[in-house]
Amino acid sequence: MYRFLFIILLSFTFLVVVKCGRQFRLGRSKGGNLGAPGEEEDRKIHDLPPAQWFQQKLDHFSVTDSRRWKQRYFVNESFYDFKNPGPIFLMIGGEGPADARWMVKGAWIEYAKIFNALCIQLEHRYYGESHPTKNLSTKNLQYLSSNQALADLAYFIKSMNDKYKLNRQVKWIAFGGSYPGSLAAWLRLKYPHLVHASISSSGPLLAKVNFMEYFKVVVNALREKTGSEDCVTQLKLAHQQIETMMKTDPGSIEKEFRVCKPFSKATKNDIKNFYNSIADDFADLVQYNEDNRISADTRYKNLTINTVCQMLTEPTGGPAYKKLAVFNAMILDKTNQTCLDYSYDSMIKELRNITWGSEGARQWMYQTCTEFGFYQTSSGEVEVFGNHFTLDFFIQQCQDVFGPK
Ligand SMILES: *[C@@H]1O[C@H](CO)[C@@H](O)[C@H](O)[C@H]1NC(C)=O
Ligand SMILES: *[C@@H]1O[C@H](CO)[C@@H](O)[C@H](O)[C@H]1NC(C)=O
Ligand SMILES: *[C@@H]1O[C@H](CO)[C@@H](O)[C@H](O)[C@H]1NC(C)=O
Ligand SMILES: *[C@@H]1O[C@H](CO)[C@@H](O)[C@H](O)[C@H]1NC(C)=O
Ligand SMILES: *[C@@H]1O[C@H](CO)[C@@H](O)[C@H](O)[C@H]1NC(C)=O
Repeated sequence: MYRFLFIILLSFTFLVVVKCGRQFRLGRSKGGNLGAPGEEEDRKIHDLPPAQWFQQKLDHFSVTDSRRWKQRYFVNESFYDFKNPGPIFLMIGGEGPADARWMVKGAWIEYAKIFNALCIQLEHRYYGESHPTKNLSTKNLQYLSSNQALADLAYFIKSMNDKYKLNRQVKWIAFGGSYPGSLAAWLRLKYPHLVHASISSSGPLLAKVNFMEYFKVVVNALREKTGSEDCVTQLKLAHQQIETMMKTDPGSIEKEFRVCKPFSKATKNDIKNFYNSIADDFADLVQYNEDNRISADTRYKNLTINTVCQMLTEPTGGPAYKKLAVFNAMILDKTNQTCLDYSYDSMIKELRNITWGSEGARQWMYQTCTEFGFYQTSSGEVEVFGNHFTLDFFIQQCQDVFGPK
């Protein structure tokens, strides 16, 4: 779901309103949130700046709590002239690991060369290797909030000003895309004495529980990018065919969509999850259309709105649902999944795991359940994707993962 918006930050433009968090669902594409920039062939991992660690406060809003933890950050000082200091560029980390590759590439690095900026990237608390607590128990997640994250940034800025002995004229410029885009805007609003300006790229500023507009943007992007209604018509037709065949011939859908278990064993939530999964694959296609992020497998570089819509609208190739299934199979291959796992229970089980892992799905889920919502429901595009993943399905997930409030 990790989906929101901007001004051109990192040398690519998002077409869509943000997608926040979505990539984290089980059986879904794992490349959902803002990934690393495309790698230059001649650049090896050992050229990247090393991680540094900052002693951060656990709870900025308690005067008696003196607990500290180590927050990860990266610095590129190459463009900076300490005798004639330029601005400080601060890339705000989001709902996934910070990535050192951003320290050498991206639009902000091009700007840094022009302005002789000092570049710093700070990882968001509870993501990547920035672990404020021993585990991710619901109790421990009480310190995970955008307010704490903003206070982390403010305290970090003050400490760096001391560390680098920066004078009061130094200008901090915050950068962020998607959720960090929101943070960038909020940081400037909340701490104007510390932050001179912010570049808020695709930042969703309105927390909305039922974010039904998301799929509207997805559908509009198909129209606008192809200049025709045909792709939307075929997609709608495919979903209608799937719904009909789920009643008359579920075996064909099982086979074409390569599901891991038969629908006869599926619960109501499994079915909702199935429809949500196939809709999400299309949403990912649109959200990351023709971006320039690192792609592990160049075979899938041609998976774009135009090529997929062309396939869907081809007069040959059988009924619409089969063509959608072909796209679905490509996504499974691309993400190395042998079958489409639409099991609700295994998704919930994964999200209940309180051990630190790399992805951050549980953490983002916590943030959506407690502060943002941002649920990309089917309610805005019932005609195209059916009406299977409504708000109550997402609220149910919050309760099943973290317990009823
Ligand atoms: C900073 O980025 C530039 C441009 O990519 C790179 O050449 C340089 O090695 C980087 N410096 C550090 C300390 O990583
Ligand atoms: C999680 O961490 C807390 C300490 O922060 C500890 O008390 C608790 O036992 C841990 N839970 C598990 C299941 O390890
Ligand atoms: C992308 O290219 C591969 C092989 O080059 C081809 O098999 C596949 O159908 C193409 N995908 C689309 C969506 O055109
Ligand atoms: C899938 O597997 C290939 C080959 O093992 C690997 O190069 C690629 O990174 C994997 N892709 C994902 C998304 O895990
Ligand atoms: C919980 O997550 C950790 C880290 O990703 C993993 O190693 C472990 O196997 C998971 N535990 C269960 C019960 O799935």
